[in-house]
Amino acid sequence: MKGMSKTPLRKTPIASLLAATLFSGLMLSSTLATAADAPGKLLSEQAGLPWPAVIAHRGASFDAPEETIPAYTLARELGADYLEMDIQRTKDGVLIAFHDDTLERTTNVAAVFPKRAADPISTFTLAELKQLDAGSWFNKAYPDRARSSYTGLQILTLDEVIDIAEGGSNKPGLYIETKVPAQFPGIEADLKKALDKRDWLTSRPAAGAGHVNVASMPGRVVLQTFEKPSLELLQQEMPQVPKVLLLWIGKGSIEPKSDVAYKDSGFKDKASYYGAQEVKSETEFAAWMDWAKAHGAIGTGPSAKLTHGGDQSYMDLVKPWMNKMAHDKGLVVHPYTVDDDVDFKKISEDGVDGFFTNRTSQLLTFYGRPAKESMEEILKRYGY
Ligand code: G3P
Ligand code: CA
Repeated sequence: MKGMSKTPLRKTPIASLLAATLFSGLMLSSTLATAADAPGKLLSEQAGLPWPAVIAHRGASFDAPEETIPAYTLARELGADYLEMDIQRTKDGVLIAFHDDTLERTTNVAAVFPKRAADPISTFTLAELKQLDAGSWFNKAYPDRARSSYTGLQILTLDEVIDIAEGGSNKPGLYIETKVPAQFPGIEADLKKALDKRDWLTSRPAAGAGHVNVASMPGRVVLQTFEKPSLELLQQEMPQVPKVLLLWIGKGSIEPKSDVAYKDSGFKDKASYYGAQEVKSETEFAAWMDWAKAHGAIGTGPSAKLTHGGDQSYMDLVKPWMNKMAHDKGLVVHPYTVDDDVDFKKISEDGVDGFFTNRTSQLLTFYGRPAKESMEEILKRYGY
């Protein structure tokens, strides 16, 4: 679950864009026609969540460096329902938004703290983390999406992400993952304190007409985790907040049918290996649904196998029978991390209730509610 999609950015002529928007609208109409009474829609409403949900995975992270100001600002301005973030804790106890276990992939830690490059986040103070450049890596990795203004972007605190969520006319929610929670004992209680301090657990401010209004819903915050012990602690700390158990096949997660390791499997890439993984049995899958439900989850976040592969293509845990089972057990389904129309369509038809996506704009268009402004316009308006 590390690394970013390498799907190239396509330059689309206006006519094609209009045709695609119309086509997506038609596709959506047909999807909605069959899904008007979709069980997941009803379940989402009962849990106080938007349906179908557009969850901006690490912000609009296809177009800006993940979990930085432009990524979250872009997601908010485009119209995402949720800003997704991974929470970790600094040495001096501050909650920050950061995905990887170490700083190497997305910062210049090797240049600033050469002896500590592979050290965990928990060994750095916030002041140290704020010295790092969390934007330049993106320009190197994706030159076709690079912007000089991304150079020198900082790692953000939870408070700074909340500022962004609150800071525009659109009022998105936050979809917060406790990342490697075993490394951060007590992080669930810290998260509760931090959200409480910003009044995010009780207040539900309404947005103006025509704007994203998830902040006014009971699902203003959704808590997510891969780890059962963390889900139990989140439920203990914040029983009233909707929670989602993230699903994976492998050690500590759902048992596989075959436990051949990648290195022994003969597959040439991880996406193919993951894509071939199957759950041990329907009973095993059902046990995870039942456990999630019994421990306070209102939904699951399954992995998805992507048509074009890539480093975010994982196990297919969104087969129709799986989605039906989740719904039958009263759980909504939000798969991660899906970026292409072909997968939005296929997986929607298989019965899910939204997506984690790096491409907020594309998913909004697929759902028939395209952004009112282009990404270029938004980025320029905010000085990027
Ligand atoms: O939180 C859902 C999805 O983000 C899980 O994958 O590794 O990107 O956090 P990851
Ligand atoms: Ca995440």
